[in-house]
Amino acid sequence: MKPDMRLPIASIDEAPRLIFETSEDQDIAWKLGIFYLKVPGWLDLKAARCFGQEILKADSPYRDIPQYGDLEGFISLENNQQTKLALRRHRWDEHYPTEITQFGRQLDDIGVAVIREVFRQSGIPEPLWSEASGGYSSGEGTAFLNFVHYDTAQPDLGLRPHTDYGFVTILDATSPGLQIELEGQFRDVPVLDGHLVINFGEALHFITQHSNRSVAAIVHRVTSQSAFNPVRHGIVYFANPDLDGALKQFNTEGREVSSTSVEDLFSRLEGNLTEYQ
Ligand SMILES: [Fe+2]
Repeated sequence: MKPDMRLPIASIDEAPRLIFETSEDQDIAWKLGIFYLKVPGWLDLKAARCFGQEILKADSPYRDIPQYGDLEGFISLENNQQTKLALRRHRWDEHYPTEITQFGRQLDDIGVAVIREVFRQSGIPEPLWSEASGGYSSGEGTAFLNFVHYDTAQPDLGLRPHTDYGFVTILDATSPGLQIELEGQFRDVPVLDGHLVINFGEALHFITQHSNRSVAAIVHRVTSQSAFNPVRHGIVYFANPDLDGALKQFNTEGREVSSTSVEDLFSRLEGNLTEYQ
């Protein structure tokens, strides 16, 4: 892939189903594990972006949302510049304004459309999709809707190199910084107006491994953001399996080849990440 080559672009039709212009585009997206998605007309991105900017203000009431464990609430992470408001789906109604909860449900629809297309291409029989994905493909599982910005007072990378652990990540970023690793080198993923960036995660890679078409989980990072640049805002949706659930690898005949608890998969990945860094 040359530095100036664009990632493939997909859209969501009225079904809603994920479609690419050509099968070559889809091949590249599946092999790399990343592509652009044209923002569907029904997605109210503007309201969500406004909300993301509102919570930057020191007096925003959303800063008082309590922390739930290590992953939810208004949190600042170590070893990178991210500060974020992160909540899982079952807390959206309680803490997010109605239009943001609604926005999250629309991202659920996109996430489900993406994972269902991956399953369709994989040849795994449809009645097994829900079981393979710990329920995500049928509207269950875990989803996070996070509003992120970057604290330029931290002299760190925006986000260190990693792969995502879940199924599908949907990203809306307002300024450059995202990079993907290709053949040992990090390349920019430019912000493309009117488009989201979607990448696949390790859990989706795992469950498609013994099928006709597996998907890759790509290594990515965010460059260090400087105080001289505009604040980088991001909206990130993670489609994940439940932490206490299981994932199954089926082949195209519907035979279960292997399975793992989500906890075991994630702790194996955690080990790899430590090695990677
Ligand atoms: Fe990520």
